[in-house]
Amino acid sequence: MSRGGLARTPTAVLISGRGSNMAALVEAAKASDYPAQIVLVISNRPEAAGLARAEAAGIPAKLVDHREFGMDREGFERALDAQLREHGAELVCLAGFMRRLTPWFVARWAGRLLNIHPSLLPLYKGLHTHERALADGAKLHGASVHFVTEELDEGPVIAQSAVPVLAGDTPETLAARVLDVEGPLYVASLAFVASGKAKLDGGKLRFGGEAVGPG
Ligand code: GRF
Repeated sequence: MSRGGLARTPTAVLISGRGSNMAALVEAAKASDYPAQIVLVISNRPEAAGLARAEAAGIPAKLVDHREFGMDREGFERALDAQLREHGAELVCLAGFMRRLTPWFVARWAGRLLNIHPSLLPLYKGLHTHERALADGAKLHGASVHFVTEELDEGPVIAQSAVPVLAGDTPETLAARVLDVEGPLYVASLAFVASGKAKLDGGKLRFGGEAVGPG
């Protein structure tokens, strides 16, 4: 499908659960002028509700169950990679995907692999971000979309969205407020990458041709 003569970048979304961010990307990509086309959704867990959401949207939805590969992490990733290539994916969005990726996969998809993390990176890398922000008395929290590199939640940030931490917040109320901004943030971030506006160049973000971030 072309976008007024411009190609739309074929994009796959990897999930492990509800697929709330995947659903936002699928919805946005229904617009003919959105620069990415969602061509595949893969889950590593059979019970992921996101698989049914993808199928309902008419998107090929595949299960690649990591448990079938035991300790062979690279074997699991080669199966993921085969599905991605079979469906012609040129970008991969991790969206609630809860498996660590090995250097093999990250290198293979370097610069074409995005993730959304529920904090304002570099704050709160890793898990339990809302609990940790509350424990610190943070007044601002949010979400970040970044290029994936070998280190967990370390890659150059493409875009962020901040939300206030309110008195009486619990991890659940804060997580819900963050989740509300994650979908639009991921939609905008994927568009920057799919349109070529944002690139990973030599480990750094280039936006609109200009290097961004620490020199
Ligand atoms: C979201 O908070 C996202 O930031 C994180 O996983 C959580 C659940 O995502 N990556 P989903 O509902 O499974 O898409």
